[in-house]
Amino acid sequence: MEIKTVMVIGAGQMGAGIAQVCAMAGYEVTLHDIKEEIIEKGVFAIQQNIYRAVEKSRMTEVEAEDTLQKICTSTHLHAAAHVDVVIEAAVENMETKTNIFRQLDEITPKHTILATNTSSLPITEIAAATKRQDKVIGMHFMNPVPVMKLVEIIRGLATSQTVFETIEAMAIKLNKIPVEVRDYPGFVSNRILMPMINEAIYSLYEGVASKEAIDNVMKLGMNHPMGPLTLADFIGLDTCLYIMETLHQGFGDDKYRPCPLLRKYVAAGWLGKKVGKGFYEYS
Ligand code: CAA
Ligand code: NAD
Repeated sequence: MEIKTVMVIGAGQMGAGIAQVCAMAGYEVTLHDIKEEIIEKGVFAIQQNIYRAVEKSRMTEVEAEDTLQKICTSTHLHAAAHVDVVIEAAVENMETKTNIFRQLDEITPKHTILATNTSSLPITEIAAATKRQDKVIGMHFMNPVPVMKLVEIIRGLATSQTVFETIEAMAIKLNKIPVEVRDYPGFVSNRILMPMINEAIYSLYEGVASKEAIDNVMKLGMNHPMGPLTLADFIGLDTCLYIMETLHQGFGDDKYRPCPLLRKYVAAGWLGKKVGKGFYEYS
């Protein structure tokens, strides 16, 4: 199946990045969110990235203009009426995602593939909100999307082979490396990464070391590009908490219990870099 048009739902840090790489690969993109000002922020981030690519001679000015012109925006889900693929990147919440998928199932043409960038939620359950379970699939990008090579591809119970192959080919066209993963809570990436981040938060909570010391141990001792607390701020502490809750509930094992300090920060609205404050402060 040939893909020409893509809609990205959610213009946050992931949605904006996904829209950018889709436009760079030549797709016509509609970027959707619930509020105009959020979309404007997403488009601004894309423009900054594209202009930096021109400065670094990775793109000509003409290519940059072409790329930016491929992106249009909408606060109406009905803009999905003519697209070939939807990539949903709204908040990590099952009710929000199933509501979006239920509506998309009504709005989009029969051939449209509905992909989700969920970090941890069951693809099969999201697909069950639609009458096209064969066309629902997980397409899990990593943050920052323009930089990270991996896309985890996750089939739901009923995902068709054609849909899998179409999304796999699309990931390659986006200059990413697709890796197939089964539909288990947190897939592979967050099943391994998030307990490490949660453990780092427990280390801070229990006073084992300062936040800077914890981050330095993992940066200097294990060669991680970011310490786990910096990475948690970068991902978003709300997203980290949602993922830990999915792991805890999905596996029923207390080793996935979210650290109370993580809950406290999210309750305080200290969601990390995207709001200017998490474990660290950002200007
Ligand atoms: N958007 C676009 N490009 C970005 C960017 C962003 N947010 N942040 C950095 N970059 C680009 C920079 O422009 C730079 O490119 P150039 O060299 O061409 O200018 C390049 O990335 C390197 O950036 P910096 O030199 O500023 O900084 P760095 O070398 O420390 O790299 C990083 C930044 C790539 C983010 C690096 O710190 C890193 O790899 N961190 C870990 C990221 C990670 O683990 N991501 C996975 C998170 S988990 C996830 O995504 C799954 C989930 O479901 C939660
Ligand atoms: P974010 O908070 O930056 O953005 C989420 C966006 O979704 C917001 O702009 C919000 O307005 C929008 N939204 C909320 N409800 C909506 C609705 N009903 N319709 C349309 N838009 C709606 O979050 P993010 O970090 O971009 O994460 C988005 C998704 O990507 C989540 O499922 C998350 O788990 C996943 N993800 C996140 C990361 C990461 O590192 N942050 C990495 C991979 C995957």
